[in-house]
Amino acid sequence: MAKKTVPTFDEFHSGSYGDRWPSLREALLGEVRYETLEEGLLRPYHLDAASANAARALGVVPGDRVLDMCAAPGGKTLVLALALAGTGELVSNELSDARRARLSRVLDEHLPEALRAAVRVTGRDATRWGLHEPEAYDRILLDAPCSSDRHLLGKPELLKEWTPARPKQLAFRQHALLCAGFDALRPGGTLAYCTCALSPCENDGVVEKLLKSRKGKVEVLAAEIPDTEPTTYGRIALPDRANGSGPLYCALIGKKAG
Ligand SMILES: C[S@@+](CC[C@H](N)C(=O)[O-])C[C@H]1O[C@@H](n2cnc3c(N)ncnc32)[C@H](O)[C@@H]1O
Repeated sequence: MAKKTVPTFDEFHSGSYGDRWPSLREALLGEVRYETLEEGLLRPYHLDAASANAARALGVVPGDRVLDMCAAPGGKTLVLALALAGTGELVSNELSDARRARLSRVLDEHLPEALRAAVRVTGRDATRWGLHEPEAYDRILLDAPCSSDRHLLGKPELLKEWTPARPKQLAFRQHALLCAGFDALRPGGTLAYCTCALSPCENDGVVEKLLKSRKGKVEVLAAEIPDTEPTTYGRIALPDRANGSGPLYCALIGKKAG
């Protein structure tokens, strides 16, 4: 019997992006378009413009109770804290001790006292949040650990080790995190599910699984995010068409009341 060959990184993504892959690949190796958060902060913070746009799409308003499940190094948490303007509560969570220390440092160095007071840093395993605080939050950001394909592409030594099993394993973990986040969302609340992955199995595929596992309770909401293109359930910013920012997938998910 002929031995099955394992697709390379390029073959795998060509399968999803077809003729577009060569130009998308080139853009992924090009310069990132950054946005600088400045107004309301003690000092400027630079992040991928697509990340800032996705965090804003969550639609946090003053007074909200907000959870950022996977928050380090903290760019998106800064966007959420600015939207709260020192009101309500933002729980900014990060499992890794080292990354959580960096998160706290970013918050301390950038947020004025009044805004910092509304942010609490925690170090839980977010896959268990639904049991810890069910139906507790108005808005939840899940910026899930993912393939980080742009980063991978720039590291030939990591690329050599890559197999299609990697996005599949990550999708499994992302589903656990998304279920936990959804369970922690109050009815009528909104969750933004984000990744910086290219593969549909880590993006729409994870939302698809939530629609099945929380059948009848999930509502996929329309998202308006600059420089993005539609996918089945969300929007994605891809650097060849987003002036260098991305990849950043974002789906807005609501929990039906009642
Ligand atoms: C994509 S990064 C988050 C980036 C961040 N939102 C930002 O904008 O700066 C994902 C983070 O999730 C953390 N993480 C991974 N598994 C986790 C878990 N089970 N619970 C909480 N955090 C987790 C990782 O350590 C990593 O820092």
